[in-house]
Amino acid sequence: MNITPVMKTMLSHRSIRKFAEKPIDIEVLEKLVECGQAAASSSFIQACSIIRVTGLGDRQKISEVAGGQQWVNEAAEFLIFCADLKRVERACLQQGEGKLEGYTEHFIAATVDVALVAENILLAAESLGMGGVFIGGIRNDPQVISDLLELPDQVYPVFGMCLGWPAAEPDVKPRFPVQTILHTNRYQLEKIEKDVEAYDEKMQSYYESRSGNTRVSDWSTQTAQAVQMKKREHMLSFLNKRGLLKK
Ligand SMILES: Cc1cc2nc3c(=O)[nH]c(=O)nc-3n(C[C@H](O)[C@H](O)[C@H](O)COP(=O)(O)O)c2cc1C
Repeated sequence: MNITPVMKTMLSHRSIRKFAEKPIDIEVLEKLVECGQAAASSSFIQACSIIRVTGLGDRQKISEVAGGQQWVNEAAEFLIFCADLKRVERACLQQGEGKLEGYTEHFIAATVDVALVAENILLAAESLGMGGVFIGGIRNDPQVISDLLELPDQVYPVFGMCLGWPAAEPDVKPRFPVQTILHTNRYQLEKIEKDVEAYDEKMQSYYESRSGNTRVSDWSTQTAQAVQMKKREHMLSFLNKRGLLKK
C-alpha cells in the first residue's frame, strides 16, 4: 500500500514538550492557521477563534493555571483555541432569530469545529518539522483564562497549544490496534476485555523501555488516574455562565 507523505506525518505524531529557542515566522504561523481553517465545519458555522498569546507574563499565568506546564512559557508560539458562537449569534440576530439559547447541540458543533481546526494546524506544523502539544490544563481554571483573554459570552477556551521547533525526539506512543477501535456494522462489546488487557501489556513494556520518562504503568492505570484527577467539576457552571450548555 502507498503510504503518502501526509500519512507518514500523521503516523509520526508525538507531543513535543521541549522546544528550541527559534521563532516561527509570522507568515508561516498564519499559513498554519489557514490550514486549520480548511477543516470541515459543522453547518459551516466556523465556530473557532484562536488567541495567540505572546506576552511572557500572560504565558506564565496560563502555565500556572495549567498546573505548572513549563512548555507553555518556552514554546515559540502558544495558542488558545476557543469555541466561538459569537459570530453565529450575530448571524441569528441579524436574521431576526434572536439570541442563542445555549443548546447542547450548538456546544458540541462548536467544540468539534475547534478540535478539527487545531488538529489540522498541528499536523501542518508537523509536516514542516515543527512539533507541539495540546494543553487541556487551561480548563483547570477557565474563568481566569477567559478574564485574561477578555472572552465574551458564547465563547469558551477549549484547550491551548504549544508550537515550535522540537528540542527532543520522544518516542511515538503505540495506539490501540486498529481492530480494537474499528467495529463492523455493530458495536462489538466482547472485544473490550481481551483487547484492553493485551494493550495494557504492550503499554507496560512501552513505558518501561521508552527513551525518556520511563515508568511502571499501563494504559488502564494511567487512564483511570487521569479521569479521577481531571473531573474539573466547575466546567458545567462555568459554561452555563458563558451562555452555553443550558438545554
Ligand atoms: C485535548 C487535549 C488536551 C491535552 N492536554 C495536555 C496538557 O495539558 N499537557 C500535556 O502535556 N499534554 C496534553 N495533551 C497531550 C496528550 O497527553 C497526548 O496527546 C497523549 O498522551 C498521547 O501522546 P502523543 O501525543 O505523544 O502521541 C493533551 C492532548 C489533547 C488531545
